[in-house]
Amino acid sequence: MNITTTRLKISQVSIADAPFILKMTNTSTFKRFIGDRNLSSISDAEKYLLSWGIDSYEKNGFGPYIVRTIMDESPVGTCGLFKRDRLNYPDLGFAFLPEYTGFGYAIESARSVLNYGFNTLKIPLIYAITNHDNDRSKKLLSKLGFAEISMVYDANTKVFELKRESYI
Ligand SMILES: CC(C)(COP(=O)(O)OP(=O)(O)OC[C@H]1O[C@@H](n2cnc3c(N)ncnc32)[C@H](O)[C@@H]1OP(=O)(O)O)[C@@H](O)C(=O)NCCC(=O)NCCS
Repeated sequence: MNITTTRLKISQVSIADAPFILKMTNTSTFKRFIGDRNLSSISDAEKYLLSWGIDSYEKNGFGPYIVRTIMDESPVGTCGLFKRDRLNYPDLGFAFLPEYTGFGYAIESARSVLNYGFNTLKIPLIYAITNHDNDRSKKLLSKLGFAEISMVYDANTKVFELKRESYI
């Protein structure tokens, strides 16, 4: 999976992305809204990458993707589809370095990942799960067309869904 958008390159993550993953998982926004992964070295990040979803590409046809700017190929964030044990369909997840939020990179990459999921993989429905107080994430999901549903996943989270027929 390699997608190029107007400003971004989106591709599968690899062990070589460990330095970026170490940096991103240690940002205050990642820790607050996604969780503290307790990564303090490149080796921790390499292990995390293996369990995070590198094995998901073969197993599920999707997984986490790394987002880079076309201009200088710097990694700026991640956006991907994740298989959760308790959900029949994948969920969309995203996280960007704070210095690269507010440029529309998250929405640009999320649209591409949704297109890939709905049109290439033919997934009928994609979920998204976010904390009650994650206003930026909720705003992004609403711009993408996600609608909140009544499903309870975890305490403090809201579950959203987007159906293929309402996206196309
Ligand atoms: C959630 C998160 C990905 C949202 O990132 P974001 O940059 O705010 O999202 P968008 O791509 O939609 O960017 C929107 C902003 O870019 C601005 N923007 C600038 N240029 C733009 C362009 N060309 N196209 C679209 N928007 C643009 C918009 O005006 C908007 O700003 P505003 O919200 O102040 O009005 C980010 O806050 C993040 O990584 N948070 C930490 C991790 C996290 O919470 N992940 C979600 C877990 S469920």
